[in-house]
Amino acid sequence: MLGGKNILLGVTGGIAAYKTAFLVRLLIKAGARVKVVLTEGALSFVTPLTLATLSKNPVSMDFIKEEDGTLDWNNHVELALWADLMVIAPATANTLSKMAHGTCDNLLLATYLSAKCPVFFAPAMDLDMYRHPATKTAIEKLSSYGNLLIPPASGELASGLEGEGRMAEPEAILGYLQDHLAQQQPLKGKKVLITAGPTYEAIDPVRYIGNHSSGQMGFELARAAAEQGASVVLISGPSRFSVENESITLQRVVSAREMYEAALAAYADADIAICAAAVADFRPRDIAPHKIKKCTERLTLELVKNPDILETMGKMKKGQYLVGFALETENEIENAQKKLKRKHLDAIVLNSLMDEGAGFGKETNKISFIDKNLTIKPFELKSKAEVARDILHEIYQRIHT
Ligand code: CTP
Repeated sequence: MLGGKNILLGVTGGIAAYKTAFLVRLLIKAGARVKVVLTEGALSFVTPLTLATLSKNPVSMDFIKEEDGTLDWNNHVELALWADLMVIAPATANTLSKMAHGTCDNLLLATYLSAKCPVFFAPAMDLDMYRHPATKTAIEKLSSYGNLLIPPASGELASGLEGEGRMAEPEAILGYLQDHLAQQQPLKGKKVLITAGPTYEAIDPVRYIGNHSSGQMGFELARAAAEQGASVVLISGPSRFSVENESITLQRVVSAREMYEAALAAYADADIAICAAAVADFRPRDIAPHKIKKCTERLTLELVKNPDILETMGKMKKGQYLVGFALETENEIENAQKKLKRKHLDAIVLNSLMDEGAGFGKETNKISFIDKNLTIKPFELKSKAEVARDILHEIYQRIHT
C-alpha cells in the first residue's frame, strides 16, 4: 500500500521522538520514500543523523541551509508538494496549538501550511496537557481543517503518571496510514482494460493515415485506475506518453487491427473496459510495398472499414462495465446516446470539440458522463488527470450499487 509513496515526517520536541527512528524504518520497509523535517526541540530527543541514515534522505530543520560555503533556503513548498502524506509525530501541545492558529515560526510549520496532501498528527504529551481544553480545541480545529488525528494510547507516561497522552506506537501509525490509503483504493482487485491514442494506418512504408490524438486521456485513466488499486492493461497506439506505475501493463500497437487483436485478447479477463482510443475508422485497402512516387496528377486511395473494437466488446460483454468515448461536433448528447445504445455500452464519455480547452492535444478536457439510463452528468473544464478521476468515480459508483 505504501510502496512508492512519498511520506513527509515532521518530528517535534517530545520524548516520543526517539520512536520515530522505528517509524522511519517501518515506512522504508513498507516501500515508502521518506523525508524528515525536525523542529529544534526534537534535537534533544533524536539526532538528525539517525533519521537521515534511516530515511536515506537529508533531514531538514532550518529555513536557511549552508552548502559548500554558500547559503540557500530549504524550500518548504517543494517539500510539502513532494509529499503524498504528511505525518507529524510526535505532535506536541505547542506544535498542535501553532498548527491550529497558523503560526509559522519554523520550517515544519511552514511546510505544514504549504501541504496539500492529507496531514496526520499523532499527539504526544502528559495526560493533563492532553485533557486541557486548549489542546482539545486545537485538535478540534485541526480536524475541521481535514487533518487526521492518530489518537494517543493510554499507559505509563514519561512523567510517571498513567493515562492518555502516549504517542501511538509506530506500528499503529503505520496502520493508520495504510488504512487511509486502502480507502483511497476503491478499485483494488479490479482489472481495467484501457485503449488509448491514435492508430496509424499504413499507406506505404513511409506514410500513414492518422489523427491528432495524443493518448493523454487514456494514459491518465490508466494512471488513476492504478493509483486506485486496479491492475491495468493499457493498449496504446503511437503516443509520446509512457508509464511508471508497476500495476500498468502497457502494450504498444500501431494500427486499428493490431489494437483490436490486443484489446480483445485482454477483454475476457477485464472487469472494466474503457475505450479512449481515437481509432481510425478506415484503412487503405492495400499497402504499397514501396514508397509511392508522385508521378501522377491524382492519387486515389481505396479505404476499407476497420473493425470497431468497442462495438465488438459490446457484443461479447459478459459482466464487464464497458465505457466508450464520443467526440461529437453536432447534436452531441443525442449522438452520444445513440452510440451508447448501438454499441451496448454501460456508459459513454462525451467530449465536445466545441468546448474551448477540450479535446485533442489539450491539457484539459470538459466531459459529460452519460450512463445507460441516459442520465447525463456534466463536468467543468478540468485537467485530464482530474477528468480521469471523475470518470473512474462515476464508474465505481455504478459498479457498487
Ligand atoms: N472505437 C473503437 N473502434 C473503432 C472506432 C471507434 O473502439 N474502430 C471506439 C472509440 O475508442 C470510442 C468510440 O468507439 O470509444 C467512439 O468512436 P467514434 O469514432 O467517435 O464513433 P464511431 O462509432 O466510429 O462513429 P462516428 O465516427 O460515425 O461518429
